Amino acid sequence: MNSKTVAIMASGRGTNLNVILEAVKAGLCPVDVRLVITDKGDAQALDIARAAGVPNVIHVNPKDYKGREQFDAQCADLLDRHGCQWIVLAGYMRILSSAFVRRFRGRIINIHPSILPAFAGARAVEDALEYGVKASGCTVHLVDEVLDGGAILAQAIVPVFDDDTRDSLHARIQIEEHKIYPATLKRMVEEGFSVEGRRVIWAGK
Ligand code: GAR
Repeated sequence: MNSKTVAIMASGRGTNLNVILEAVKAGLCPVDVRLVITDKGDAQALDIARAAGVPNVIHVNPKDYKGREQFDAQCADLLDRHGCQWIVLAGYMRILSSAFVRRFRGRIINIHPSILPAFAGARAVEDALEYGVKASGCTVHLVDEVLDGGAILAQAIVPVFDDDTRDSLHARIQIEEHKIYPATLKRMVEEGFSVEGRRVIWAGK
């Protein structure tokens, strides 16, 4: 399996998907995005992936499956069929079954809009704002069975201002997401890393 083959899974606006595809096109991120999967038929991610010429763009509809395990098994078969080494979650808003995580252990990465381990979960930006933190940011991490709990690959920090709303803070965080996600993907395939306990150790090549 080519170690630079990537699948991206997205549920929504797809801005992270878009910056990764643009970085690939510009020669700044040496991966081969072979497959985009979305669980939402109206996700903008679908149009973005098609417009960028991703060879396989697939909507897997959760309604067609009995439960999470079956849905994930279908996605997993697609990932294997297309020979995807890395699975990049980009605003993918479904919790992965443990069978899926086991099957691709160490090969799934996610971006989350907070400085983990603070504010895991689906309301990260609101929770950070309500807590009153003066800095927040984003985290790229490996995915394991714990929600937003895997080893950390990269983080970036932004200030939180007194007049911030959820949208203004999220927009500031996304500026950083759009830098660190393609950069981390590039580093993963070019440099590589190992994991010692919870610590990601970059190969330093
Ligand atoms: C991103 O901010 C990402 O961090 C977040 O969803 C947004 C997707 O944006 N992910 C999560 O909250 C996962 N728990 P996008 O669709 O524009 O890439």
